[in-house]
Amino acid sequence: MTQPQYDPKQWWVGEVLYQAYPRSFMDSDGDGVGDLQGIIDRLDHLAGLGIRGLWLSPITVSPNADFGYDVADYYDVDPSLGTLRDLDALVTAAAARGIGVIMDLVPNHTSIEHPWFEASRSSRDHPKRDWYVWADPAPDGGPPNNWVSVFGGPAWTLDEPTGQYYLHNFLDMQPDLNWWNEEVREQFDRIFRYWFDSGVSGFRIDVAHMVIKDSDLRDNPPATDADSLMDQMRGQRQEFNSNRPEVHEVHRRWRELADSYDPPKVLIGETFVEKLEDLFPYFGAVGDELHLDFNIPFAHAPFDAAALADMIERTEGAMPAAGTPVWTGSNHDISRFPTRWADGDPDRARAALMMLLTLRGTTVLYEGDEIGMVDTAVPREELVDPVGIRFFPYAGRDPVRTPMQWANAPGGGFTTPEARPWLRFGDLTCNVADQDGDPDSMLSLTRDLIALRRTHPDLRTGAWMRLDAPADGLAYRRGDATIVLLNLGDAPATVAGIDGEILIGTRRARDGERVTGSITLAPAEGAVLKA
Ligand code: NOJ
Repeated sequence: MTQPQYDPKQWWVGEVLYQAYPRSFMDSDGDGVGDLQGIIDRLDHLAGLGIRGLWLSPITVSPNADFGYDVADYYDVDPSLGTLRDLDALVTAAAARGIGVIMDLVPNHTSIEHPWFEASRSSRDHPKRDWYVWADPAPDGGPPNNWVSVFGGPAWTLDEPTGQYYLHNFLDMQPDLNWWNEEVREQFDRIFRYWFDSGVSGFRIDVAHMVIKDSDLRDNPPATDADSLMDQMRGQRQEFNSNRPEVHEVHRRWRELADSYDPPKVLIGETFVEKLEDLFPYFGAVGDELHLDFNIPFAHAPFDAAALADMIERTEGAMPAAGTPVWTGSNHDISRFPTRWADGDPDRARAALMMLLTLRGTTVLYEGDEIGMVDTAVPREELVDPVGIRFFPYAGRDPVRTPMQWANAPGGGFTTPEARPWLRFGDLTCNVADQDGDPDSMLSLTRDLIALRRTHPDLRTGAWMRLDAPADGLAYRRGDATIVLLNLGDAPATVAGIDGEILIGTRRARDGERVTGSITLAPAEGAVLKA
């Protein structure tokens, strides 16, 4: 089998990255909100996992209308999370453990409180007016076109003093920047350099597919049955306010900048498209766009062997030579995979984890994945996510943002026993401390799979090839001689034609077992084998 040829400077290839949601990771000062010092205090946990990069959801200054995704200053740390000095200390301490810090950049919009927007809205003639997307009212005085916000309602708000509408693809507190404006592009080049020069190893780029909008602000067409479920719910296909062909030029510009560093800085796009084929253009024909692009259709796929095999195979097939797929099952916006894929069943969660950590490319774990944290029900009166508040009884994103569960103790090992965490705790019986020394725990499985991936060239960089499998089975080969078998069904499954040794099984008692001729897997059991 031909093995992919990677640029050895791309340090993230084959590695595992980890997303921390800073408000929920670790609180060092007892105010109930996580902070940078807390992350420093827990670095040994991350180093023990064997991750290579730590992506932090936004830590820059924010009034927190959308918890960091509404930035009021791109050049400083939000005081509730720490200081620039804390960030320096984190970057240094993480580097000492072989971990690069990856920040989160929000280029599509700023906070309404950002001085750029305050200047822009101050008058129609202000030099920064064109930094945002302003348009005259429609003849009836209503919004300039029919675009709706991702968070519901019209994507336009009237600014009465200047008589024009501003665009916001998210909250009205998050005005969209105008990426047709060259000064905006240059400003963001500066922001990238500022952080790269201070030692940050890369950026995850928020709604990277959305920054450019149709320059004529054309109406979106009505959704049809062929459109994604979200488009159908919105009643329109996001044809002109998202996913525009001109966005690729912006991605190429960012890539060039990131690649001008040695080693290169990594760029991971939040390419939140709902159809897999809409993701493919972002891979770039010659690997000249963002290095990595989140695969949301994969994360949203049902936990069904045929559906997942199809997603993986099509993604692999669309990759340019030396391109790197990204696999993730959870993040701060979507239901955690132990809930969404596994419905709380620990065996299924272990099988899902095995899949995520044995696919080719770069895997991104979300805090808590390593212990199998599930979504936490948050009662209506405790909701803080604007999306949950607006769309209740859909609870929004608070259920996946509850504090990291470090210990089954008052304060959860996250904060002091007296403090009230900013979001309630989930089930603290699922926690790091209890799983730490237990060889059968999800935490041990996570550590051992990552260690195997890092030391085993087939798993680290070997090509991925689908293998025949019985119904409900997902089977693939990595590199020359490593086979992954997962039984996602409810009945035992036997796979014939297998000779080798189990390197790691989701049922750890099978580690080291010799397999001759065939192997039978229990429901929701998986195994990595050396053939
Ligand atoms: C995607 C982020 O992941 C999400 O949390 C945020 O609300 C929106 N972009 C808007 O920035």
